[in-house]
Amino acid sequence: MSHLVVLTGAGVSAESGIRTFRDGNGLWENHRVEDVATPEGWHRDPETVLAFYNERRRQVRAAQPNAAHRALAALESDGFRVSIVTQNIDDLHERAGSRSVLHLHGEILKARSSADPRLIYRLDEDQEIRIGDHCDRGSQLRPHVVWFGESVPLFPTACELVAEADLVLVVGTSLAVAPASGLVNEADWHVPRILVDPAAAELTPAGITAMTTSATEGVSQLVDYWRQHRRLELPDFLAD
Ligand code: APR
Repeated sequence: MSHLVVLTGAGVSAESGIRTFRDGNGLWENHRVEDVATPEGWHRDPETVLAFYNERRRQVRAAQPNAAHRALAALESDGFRVSIVTQNIDDLHERAGSRSVLHLHGEILKARSSADPRLIYRLDEDQEIRIGDHCDRGSQLRPHVVWFGESVPLFPTACELVAEADLVLVVGTSLAVAPASGLVNEADWHVPRILVDPAAAELTPAGITAMTTSATEGVSQLVDYWRQHRRLELPDFLAD
């Protein structure tokens, strides 16, 4: 069965109302990234970091999957093998119905021990993380997200998935953050690669076909084409 590997970034969730990182004024929801998304920020002021992610978690819970998330899930239900590797910490791919979702940068709906990264806990509905919430070994809980300067433990697994792709679809990422930005290069040289992003024309590195549209429009169009043709290929409306 041919295998679609989809690499998604903040842009796939933008139309669900979740803000991207680099579109605005360099701040993330009015915070400096160094204050809320680094181990140093956490050691300096864990309370602010927890409050920040508690708010992000509320936003995620209130958001709904959009047509791009749903189209990818529909392709899978239609019998295609679809693996999603996302940089996003929201659960919108899963809620749309995708079954194979790898979260490179963690999951905001989970907490983990600040002492032992293997101790991971799913938060209950509406549950927040507060100072004094401890793991089974007595250490403070933190959000289960990968911060700048931390290792990306699922990166080797993501590389393996991309290496066996028959087509790579990249959606809504500025490809600015390593190592995720290099994943697309793990595919075989002959594998078609498509980037769907309103900024695709400026972003697209050599060898990737740009589709300069929103995620909902571009992904829906591609999925319609593949479902109609019953195979993964570069659609003729993109071939030059
Ligand atoms: N549809 C598709 N793409 C969109 C849309 C949309 N409706 N709106 C914006 N975009 C695109 C932007 O053009 C941009 O290229 O989404 C991209 C978002 O880029 P970033 O904000 O840099 O997000 P991302 O690439 O996911 O960031 C990577 O950086 O801060 C870290 O860990 C964080 O996972 C994140 C990583």
